[in-house]
Amino acid sequence: MLHPLDCQEYFALKNGPTVRVRPILTSDEDKLRTFFYSLSEQSRYSRYFSAIRALPHEKAQKEANIDFSRDMGIAAFLGPISTEQIIGTGHFYILFDNQTAEISLLVHEKFRNRGLARFFLEYLTKRAVERGVTRFVTELIMGNRAAIHLLKSFTQSGLAKNTTIERADEVTILTWEVPEFPGHIEDKTFRYLFE
Ligand SMILES: CC(C)(COP(=O)(O)OP(=O)(O)OC[C@H]1O[C@@H](n2cnc3c(N)ncnc32)[C@H](O)[C@@H]1OP(=O)(O)O)[C@@H](O)C(=O)NCCC(=O)NCCS
Repeated sequence: MLHPLDCQEYFALKNGPTVRVRPILTSDEDKLRTFFYSLSEQSRYSRYFSAIRALPHEKAQKEANIDFSRDMGIAAFLGPISTEQIIGTGHFYILFDNQTAEISLLVHEKFRNRGLARFFLEYLTKRAVERGVTRFVTELIMGNRAAIHLLKSFTQSGLAKNTTIERADEVTILTWEVPEFPGHIEDKTFRYLFE
């Protein structure tokens, strides 16, 4: 398996700047916490389903200490490495059926609508497919237009199919499947398909 730092990619946000996107390491816990405390209450509510005020060690480790043989957690880092800051995160966790991955995305309010979540979704899809995932699921708070729009746009680009939107109580559940790709998917082949 590749070392997480070999999976680093660069992404130019719409109107700049360029960020480094790489898997999250256990040692990124403090950066994750700084990111968490910089978010608005509304953002925390959208991501965690309650306006939690703190990110204790156990919760932060769930996001930072990833079993990369199965799951994936990535972050976008801004600025020189010595002072880099996280401006967005994306995770997936493979469920018991080994084919479905639960995905979550979070982009700082200051950097929204500049394509970062879409880039995360492409990045995470590539890694999930390599692990045998064929289907994704995510839970949203009711009325999360940004996330629904993101998935619609992803589906329209042919990168998701059989998308469903199910509303239950205060929650919206989105599911979608990955379109079939021929043969064994090498990262490069998959990348080509996305370009
Ligand atoms: C949902 C979220 C991750 C989107 O992040 P983002 O980086 O702003 O999204 P992108 O810039 O990649 O936008 C992707 C598409 O969604 C559209 N979009 C983004 N925000 C939108 C909004 N508020 N309303 C309508 N469309 C929106 C963009 O215009 C773009 O459309 P296009 O592909 O047709 O151009 C971000 O709003 C967020 O972090 N929300 C809080 C946490 C959350 O709700 N996470 C999702 C559930 S886990």
